[in-house]
Amino acid sequence: MIRDLTDDEARAALPLKWEAAGVVPAWVAEMDFAQAEPITEALVDAVRRGALGYPPHSEELGATFAGFARRHWGWDVPADASVATGGVVGGMRLALEVLCPPGPVVVPVPCYPPFRDVVEVSGREIVPIELDPDADDASLDLAAVSRAFAGGARTLLLCNPHNPLGYVPRREELAALAALAHEYDARVVADEIHGPLVLPPLDPAGPTFTPYLSVDERGIAVTSASKAFNMPATHGAQLVVLDPADRARLDVVPIPAQNTWSSLGVIASVVAWRDCDDWLAALVDRLASQRSLLAELLDARLPGARTRPLEATYLAWIDLRKYGVDDPAGAALAHGVRLAPGQDYQPGLAGHVRLNLATSPERLERIVGGLAAALAQ
Ligand SMILES: Cc1ncc(COP(=O)(O)O)c(C=O)c1O
Repeated sequence: MIRDLTDDEARAALPLKWEAAGVVPAWVAEMDFAQAEPITEALVDAVRRGALGYPPHSEELGATFAGFARRHWGWDVPADASVATGGVVGGMRLALEVLCPPGPVVVPVPCYPPFRDVVEVSGREIVPIELDPDADDASLDLAAVSRAFAGGARTLLLCNPHNPLGYVPRREELAALAALAHEYDARVVADEIHGPLVLPPLDPAGPTFTPYLSVDERGIAVTSASKAFNMPATHGAQLVVLDPADRARLDVVPIPAQNTWSSLGVIASVVAWRDCDDWLAALVDRLASQRSLLAELLDARLPGARTRPLEATYLAWIDLRKYGVDDPAGAALAHGVRLAPGQDYQPGLAGHVRLNLATSPERLERIVGGLAAALAQ
């Protein structure tokens, strides 16, 4: 069911990821797989119908998301809780500007780089909480969050599940965060774009995905089918907010301040949330086998690499400090492999990379081989 793209197909389908000729790309978060057939059919049909007008206010988006949330996470979210938006990052900006109290914003680091940018763009001060790269536990430092709230911060940007750490926050941890947010009247904006991408657990006690709003009714979730279903260009995302007053505030945002969604994005998302469970199950199995292959390849070629358990996403966070190279991604590029540099996610952090394993086994071998050759020098 998961069809690997050939190099030529991938270059046509994912032009940013594959833009550099002669380089095997493992950087930006896109998968070298064809989309699910129902999505392709719906988009082709929509274009043939000429459905390229301004997007309507779709109730189907929230209703199909609610169905997905119930089937996959046992979460009953009201169908009218979703407000369409163009992208997750733009949706976070809207959440910050329209729904969050003034004041500094807590960002756990490492983070997906636009988390820092969105705080800056919205004119807020950032309060980073850095993870010690030697810590085994990737959970939130709740004592640091409490200090930040006590010091005046009133918003926290949460990545659930976490890019780049591949970590799935536990329900108790999220409930403790919610309690802190209530104590300080702060709001948590949860980016849940990777929610559908929780992989089969590595041990029986492995985590499942907890939607943040299931533990904090004042939370704001921003999500999209675009990551799990590999269609970021369609620009259909959604804010999920439980309070009708919050939705009313979003509804009256003036057009230049909006982050308008695309009709095609809504069509594709509705199909993804409603009709693609089998494809998603096959994808998650495939990613789990790539995860095993990566572990084998690193064991064989880079035994000094330290990885965190990849509980979710297809983005492995790899600590290569043992090899004494500050910028392993830069070194790997000279060997024909493009990885995402760790310092983009945690400024000043040397010796880390983020590796995108959503590709063919053969390419993954070339990626690890290129990295190993770069670090051997
Ligand atoms: C955590 C996270 N949030 C948001 C995005 C991007 O979402 P969008 O393109 O909808 O802004 C990504 C893309 O990789 C991501 O990993």
